[in-house]
Amino acid sequence: MHVKGANRKTVLEELKRFNRQDQKYDEGKILCSMCTKPHPIAKKAYLMFLNSNLGDPGLFPGSLQLEREVINELASLLHGENCVGSLVSGGTEANMLALLAARNMANVKDPEVVLPKSAHFSFTKICGMLKLKPVYVDLDDSFRVDLSKVEACIRGNTVAIVGTAGTSELGVVDPIEGLSDLALKRDVYFHVDAAFGGLVLPFLPNGGKFDFQLPAVKSMTVDPHKMGMAAIPTGGAIFRDTQTIDHLKTETPYLTNRFQYTFVGTRPGASAASAWAVFRLLGVEGFKKIVDKCMKTTRLLTNELKAARCCLVTEPTLNIAAFRSPKGTKHLAQSLWQRGWFVSYVPRYDCIRVVVMPHVQNQHALAFLADLRDIEKI
Ligand SMILES: Cc1ncc(COP(=O)(O)O)c(C=O)c1O
Repeated sequence: MHVKGANRKTVLEELKRFNRQDQKYDEGKILCSMCTKPHPIAKKAYLMFLNSNLGDPGLFPGSLQLEREVINELASLLHGENCVGSLVSGGTEANMLALLAARNMANVKDPEVVLPKSAHFSFTKICGMLKLKPVYVDLDDSFRVDLSKVEACIRGNTVAIVGTAGTSELGVVDPIEGLSDLALKRDVYFHVDAAFGGLVLPFLPNGGKFDFQLPAVKSMTVDPHKMGMAAIPTGGAIFRDTQTIDHLKTETPYLTNRFQYTFVGTRPGASAASAWAVFRLLGVEGFKKIVDKCMKTTRLLTNELKAARCCLVTEPTLNIAAFRSPKGTKHLAQSLWQRGWFVSYVPRYDCIRVVVMPHVQNQHALAFLADLRDIEKI
């Protein structure tokens, strides 16, 4: 830290210099992120609640009410009744809370968790932290977890099985219904990671059953800071009932609430306000329009990719396109980066992944395709 402080104008100018180095969603070049520009109302709401700390909710009852309403709205979108939960730092923390509850509930020696090979990498961190042994299960030809192999991996010390409703790399939905049946049959905790898909699938015409309407689903992750267009950080950890979150209870020695149920102590009420404002402003109809637009742009992109002789890894279920080039996918990814396109290259599938978030307009997709054709000389 400098010994002498600077004046306000200098501070702001220096900040602008840093800010200029950051990519801007509006330019439409960020094609690798599951976050997007927060909705303008999210920004206003966030600033309004900047002082609020959900970790000490006796001081901020209005913010607590906003958090409860956001959790209830997420739960009702996911067909949950009387669900409980918290807004947390993101999908990683929500997944961690679910597995912590499952581990504490089972209370067995050498606990294991059964996961698809496509599960988000947060589970690697979580298993390390919670001393859970991850048992990874192969995928089938459609990149969904192989149900019969999941069953074979469930043992007496399995504390949970996990399914993903919208994998991070391909946007694929695991056979959640089959996993729910299996979890019921084997009496094991079932967590659904819908960090991304949880705010897409409910707005698709054929989103399918992937949520609390399936009886074994005990908890779900769904992140408003992804397709919910809320400000970062806004993750959602939703639990079917209070008995489950009781396993997360920690007594607080000096705060206005007696117990906390999250890992993070101090939590931004501003996040709750930002998600609440977007939900209130858009409603289901508004979300449907945004998701529909993202899906149309995804289809435009995939049709044109096929026309440019690229091959899709799988037909998109969500607004994620994954493809390969016959001339070398990694090389194409590098060339796209050199032209300023932020795409992901996924070694596991040797594919390029494009996430068509709300900031990606048709004109951006078309400019991207023009550069791709130029690189590929098609
Ligand atoms: C399916 C899934 N789960 C969990 C996460 C982790 O979320 P976060 O980065 O908000 O912690 C992501 C992030 O993209 C995700 O796609």
